[in-house]
Amino acid sequence: MGKTVLITGACINTGVAIVEKFASEGYNVVFTGRNMEKVHAKEKEYRESFPNVEIFGYHIDSLIDERTVDEASVEKLFADIDARGLLADTLVLNAADQGLGMKVFENPLTDMMKVINTNVVWNFCLSEHAARRMKENGGGNIVFVNSNTAYRAIPDRVAYVASKGGQLGLMRALALDLGKYNIRVNAVLPGMIKTDRWEKNPDFYANVPSRFTPIGDVAVGEDIADAVYYFAAHARNTTGAELVVDGGNTIQLYPIIPE
Ligand SMILES: NC(=O)c1ccc[n+]([C@@H]2O[C@H](COP(=O)([O-])OP(=O)(O)OC[C@H]3O[C@@H](n4cnc5c(N)ncnc54)[C@H](OP(=O)(O)O)[C@@H]3O)[C@@H](O)[C@H]2O)c1
Repeated sequence: MGKTVLITGACINTGVAIVEKFASEGYNVVFTGRNMEKVHAKEKEYRESFPNVEIFGYHIDSLIDERTVDEASVEKLFADIDARGLLADTLVLNAADQGLGMKVFENPLTDMMKVINTNVVWNFCLSEHAARRMKENGGGNIVFVNSNTAYRAIPDRVAYVASKGGQLGLMRALALDLGKYNIRVNAVLPGMIKTDRWEKNPDFYANVPSRFTPIGDVAVGEDIADAVYYFAAHARNTTGAELVVDGGNTIQLYPIIPE
């Protein structure tokens, strides 16, 4: 049957690089996105690029509404994977609600709930369903694509920053509770990643302080994919660990902006 990875949020940006990394290493891939047409288009593209592995796309949204995680759709996703005779021995939790432009005094409480529900509660739900199967099959591993904002806050992103901090706690708690089933749980903490948002808004990204890292550049999707793959495929004695991939951004007190 070979190894299979389930990767969330993989029709765009970092998720695409993660799919490409695992598929090129011979993993079967199940990936998710929210839009059915985009998922089908991406599935076709991935299958053409990687004809030697099985690749399936699912369209799934984390929520029924801001207050309610769609647990039934997670159950259906895993039942469909089972029906195809696949076992996701690696789960990569990449999808995230970015919670952009959130003002402490202006946004309704449901905006906080929406982000926390997607980034923490939905990821717990996916982890639980995946781990149940991994446990029956002798082990597996879960990798969170977290963020260095779990360590250091950024402005107007209160829900996102809180959710990424919560994710790290979730990662450690799962690592502790699932270790006895040979299930490892780890987190990659990117700093800024070059995504399609850089192309859409080059002036903003030319001057954003977090692009000025000690090594002088930010990550591309492949850098994050390599770190995720390291946890999944190589780090056999590592669980509950964090790997920061941010060009050294978090170690600075402030960015040194070149003259
Ligand atoms: N970009 C950065 O600079 C940066 C920095 C630090 C950490 N990170 C982390 O790295 C990961 C990938 O970042 P990215 O910038 O590549 O992400 P992105 O471009 O914002 O894509 C996020 C993915 O999450 C999916 N998603 C969003 N809300 C969802 C929901 N309610 N239910 C289900 N899926 C949902 C999206 O699905 P659709 O395709 O259907 O929209 C999309 O595929 C995220 O966890 C992010 O927090 C990113």
